[in-house]
Amino acid sequence: MEEQLMTIKNEALSLILDAGDIKTLEEVKLQFLGRSGKLTLALKDIVNVPLLQRAEIGQLINEVKQSVEEAIDRQGEMLKNKRLEKKRESIDVTNPGIKPPSGHIHLVTHAINEITAIFEKIGFTRVRYPEVEWDWYAFTALNFPENHPARDDWETFFTTEDVDSKKGSIILTPHTSNGQIREMQRVVKEQKGKGDISIRMLNIAKTYRRQSDVSHTQMFHQFEGLVVGKDISIVHLKGTLDYFVKSFFGENREIRLRPYHFQFTEPSFELDINCGVCLGKGCKLCKAGWLELGGAGIVHPNVLTFGGVDPKIYSGFAFGFGPERCMMMKEGLEIDDLRLLYSNKLEFLTQF
Ligand code: DAH
Repeated sequence: MEEQLMTIKNEALSLILDAGDIKTLEEVKLQFLGRSGKLTLALKDIVNVPLLQRAEIGQLINEVKQSVEEAIDRQGEMLKNKRLEKKRESIDVTNPGIKPPSGHIHLVTHAINEITAIFEKIGFTRVRYPEVEWDWYAFTALNFPENHPARDDWETFFTTEDVDSKKGSIILTPHTSNGQIREMQRVVKEQKGKGDISIRMLNIAKTYRRQSDVSHTQMFHQFEGLVVGKDISIVHLKGTLDYFVKSFFGENREIRLRPYHFQFTEPSFELDINCGVCLGKGCKLCKAGWLELGGAGIVHPNVLTFGGVDPKIYSGFAFGFGPERCMMMKEGLEIDDLRLLYSNKLEFLTQF
């Protein structure tokens, strides 16, 4: 029996090594390990082995079986590698490569970059000021007296219950107007005694409000312009906004300033642009021919004073708009739910 097993083993191993392809190897496997394979039958035959030798022979059969199985695996692996190598050798180098998937910048980032470039052309510098800020910069220094009801319009997030005796609470900026005070203080400090104050600032930052529904996201962006100098007037404000609107939306667009109220500007306006579809005649989209863009005005003397700028010598104008709104108005996008912009859903983002 032992001898017979050794013969089977040798025969199997030599056939395995000779197998030149997977199909032949499968046949060899069947011949020895299949249901009526030689080793399977030998194992079945064990009942005919005298009882005393049975354990020993049984173990031997298993050892033979194992080494045959291992040899089959090794040969199989070798044949597979050979096949791959052959395939590699026959690669057609003129085939186009596989393109890795590539993304693109977010549509809001795109709008921000475009807005920045437009203002940089006329001498504005983009700056960034804190988005987690003292109440003093975001409200008090912008001419909101303590506990003034107008503060409620900003739906502000407060981060702590502690209140600093001078600077108030720490908040998430509900608008970018805090940048006005920060920029004036910076320039005043830098210029001290050296020359005139001249500011052309564009503060673009994230802003936060306690509102979330189809037309509001809790986080959004604003771009805040501030110009301060000698003899700055409403003419400069109107010219700048007209330039921006024509550059961003198209040469055929007109603006209008509609009287409004903000604590930090006097006079204050809302800027409207004529509808891109009917050009001001009135249609289904715009109703009365005009679309609202955002707030603007002549900087209030108290705000200049809080910034360290003398309102008897200097004047300025300011504006604050949303890049998301500008982008949607320009592209004529009617996004059902504004929250989609920040959902990171690829089905949405890859459309642009
Ligand atoms: N901060 C205002 C807002 O969030 C927008 C604004 C209005 C900014 C008038 C200005 C301005 O600089 O002059 O609604």
